[in-house]
Amino acid sequence: MLAEPEHAIGVFDSGVGGLTVLRELQRQLPYEPLVYLGDTARVPYGTKSPQTVLRYAQEAARFLTAQRVKLLVVACNTASAVALSTLAETYRLPVVGVIEPGACRALDVSRNRRIGVIGTEGTIRSGAYERALKASDPTVEVYAVSCPLFVPLAEEGWMNHPSAEMIAADYLAPLLNQGVDTLVLGCTHYPLLKQTLQRVAGPDVQLIDSAEETAKVVAGELYSRSLQRSAAESLPPRYFVTDIPDRFERVGGSFLGAPLCGVTTVSLD
Ligand code: DGL
Repeated sequence: MLAEPEHAIGVFDSGVGGLTVLRELQRQLPYEPLVYLGDTARVPYGTKSPQTVLRYAQEAARFLTAQRVKLLVVACNTASAVALSTLAETYRLPVVGVIEPGACRALDVSRNRRIGVIGTEGTIRSGAYERALKASDPTVEVYAVSCPLFVPLAEEGWMNHPSAEMIAADYLAPLLNQGVDTLVLGCTHYPLLKQTLQRVAGPDVQLIDSAEETAKVVAGELYSRSLQRSAAESLPPRYFVTDIPDRFERVGGSFLGAPLCGVTTVSLD
């Protein structure tokens, strides 16, 4: 099916995390219709094998493309790391991941060319950020660590809890010891921890929010393909999840910064 300006942007993630990307899309593209799929029955993706995450991502993309979307956003860093190229080859639609946009921005702002990356185990193990950074600038030094405890902390609402600061200090120490001047938040959940991370990293380290950068890339893609919606009126996003909606609605509100309702459960089989 051909993409039309009136069609929605499809966004998927393993769960609530991608709502940080949806929120940025709403802020930067307020008149674009959005369809969100959270694979809540199978979250987390960050601890799973690349083969499993690829299969989940293919199923999610199949569901969203059946909803008549004009562009697909892989909001999950782990899924972007292992599935983006396969999805881009499978569909005729533009497919935007979160890794390239974050990496590009990091290269723009880093002065000393020492860049830190934090993400899930799967994202860090894949080396996807490192590849994206070095593809544009082979001289850049990349230091990457996984921070698995940040996902449950963000979902518990413990972003500014003293324990979050202690854990962040431990995780970031090896990166800060390497003198990074830029830190890529390579996971959907980490923008919620921005204040704590900035406190720990100090004012000289620039944090890169992949969600913000991804929304800018989506805006550029729509513009270059003349796919922007013409009507200047906002529509509420449509939400789909693969488990019962209760937890998604409760936890998702803080990720979205607004109450969340009208969530439908679907099966991707
Ligand atoms: N959405 C995932 C990511 O950005 C984090 C949560 C998970 O592990 O599924 O990598």
